[in-house]
Amino acid sequence: MTTTAPHAVTTRLSLPSTRQDPWWRTAVVYQIYVRSFHDSTGTGTGDLGGLLQRLPYLRRLGVDAIWLSPFYPSPQYDHGYDIADYHDVDPRFGDLDMMSRVIARAHALGLRVLADIVPNHCSIEHPWFKAALAGAPGSPERALFHFADGRGPEGAEPPNNWRSIFGGSSWARTTADDGTPGQWYLHSFAPEQADFNWADPRVGDYFDSVLRFWLDLGVDGFRIDVAHGLHKQQGLPDDPHAALDEITGDPVNSAAWNRPEVHDVWRRWRALTDEYERRDGRARVLVGEIGVLNPRQVALYQRPDELHQSFFFEFLRTEWDSAAFHDVICRGLEAVTAAGSAVSWVLNNHDMPRAVTRYAGGEPGGQPGDTALGERRARAALLMMLALPGSVYLYQGEELGLAEVVDLPTSALQDPMYHRSGGARRGRDGCRVPLPWHGSAPTYGFTDATAAWLPQPHWFSSYGAAEQDLRGESTLNLYRAALALRSAIPDLRDGGLVWDEVPDTPDGVLSFRRGGLLCTVNCGPSPVPAPHGATLLLSSAPEPSGDKQPAESAAWWVV
Ligand code: GLC
Repeated sequence: MTTTAPHAVTTRLSLPSTRQDPWWRTAVVYQIYVRSFHDSTGTGTGDLGGLLQRLPYLRRLGVDAIWLSPFYPSPQYDHGYDIADYHDVDPRFGDLDMMSRVIARAHALGLRVLADIVPNHCSIEHPWFKAALAGAPGSPERALFHFADGRGPEGAEPPNNWRSIFGGSSWARTTADDGTPGQWYLHSFAPEQADFNWADPRVGDYFDSVLRFWLDLGVDGFRIDVAHGLHKQQGLPDDPHAALDEITGDPVNSAAWNRPEVHDVWRRWRALTDEYERRDGRARVLVGEIGVLNPRQVALYQRPDELHQSFFFEFLRTEWDSAAFHDVICRGLEAVTAAGSAVSWVLNNHDMPRAVTRYAGGEPGGQPGDTALGERRARAALLMMLALPGSVYLYQGEELGLAEVVDLPTSALQDPMYHRSGGARRGRDGCRVPLPWHGSAPTYGFTDATAAWLPQPHWFSSYGAAEQDLRGESTLNLYRAALALRSAIPDLRDGGLVWDEVPDTPDGVLSFRRGGLLCTVNCGPSPVPAPHGATLLLSSAPEPSGDKQPAESAAWWVV
């Protein structure tokens, strides 16, 4: 791990004035992974009633909005990202009335609500897919998906060479009632998630009605699952690089991902949300999960008539290194502001090993790493992120300083990624373990059942929200303090970012200004002198001092 100094730069990146900007440009949005947040019914699985109870906690945390991972009826092969009914709530999580109560209570507390929407694929239990299976090859029912004959003798080989992101071919073969093998259908993820055919106009019309349904219920916007997916290249040709999709888990097959036609979908959705906005004056937001690696390509999704936002995942993928942070922040700001939008920073979500573990050198299924160091760094990264221009997405549990649960027993693992890769990829269960709310033994206030749906580790006893509430230097209280300052100090939200020149900045330290506020991040292993003439406002280190900035810490200063 290096801690080289940032490159000498004089970059001045200015953002449009944000005084009249809509809320989402600078919002802090908190992701709720519903099944792991709080269980109010004693099933061992979190639900909307649990969320309703905990909304005051989120209000006190100081976030502006919540994003709910899918809560729709689903057989849960991919924990709800396989939707069987886009117009309802899964009984495991509640019902439409409960969802309305969540929205109303959240709004009363000043929190906006985003729903997760999954337009690339649906569950094989969706009525359209059931009808397609029952329909004949070439039927209108099958045209809503990608059905094709197999290759080779008796069509026994998949129609093309595409690989699923979760492992294996991205085609599954159908079987007729009498056991005869039939056509194949495309699934970019698990076989239980069938890809829609967006070239069929009925699909676009259907999703318009889905958006309207939830907007009418009161949501403030949507997080869009795999928004770089949807359209496929006509004819579904083989792709020489298709195998990389499986190896890296990244969407590299240019025939399957990031097709130019998908931008028409986002223009259509933007027009629809704009219509709602004009009607009642409430700004709505569409935030895309764009798994494309090139930031300039990602920025195209955020042109003024397309999505409002997309997650800037390159920041999450950056190792603990001041020069690397400097470069990735520049890339994000340049690419996204050039498109006229703002960056959405993110360090954690339900698909990635938690930041504490990444910065600790640990990995799921392997060693935990030095989690005390990882937590120190994750606290510093939070202050860095919250001081950047744009919006921020947090993932439940990061405010508690949770590390990845790296040692879940393999018998407990549920992620299709683990099972589809034959265990080669450990999967994402370790960041989805239900939260510790209080107490010294499982289930740490998460559920009245004897066990949560994933086993919680014994070290959760030091991480309960109630216990952290009482410790001034806890990670929970750091998040609260930082979020309160971010909303109280206009310089942290408005205007541009100015980098400090390298000659004044110690090695391994990142230093930038937002108006009268200075943020310094010491990525190095030793304390460094405090910036001259600056007054400490907030430090990520539990033991700040006035004249030195501790190792592996970030600080906000008034200058
Ligand atoms: C997105 C979701 C992930 C899901 C996948 C398939 O990447 O974030 O959890 O498995 O899409 O829907």
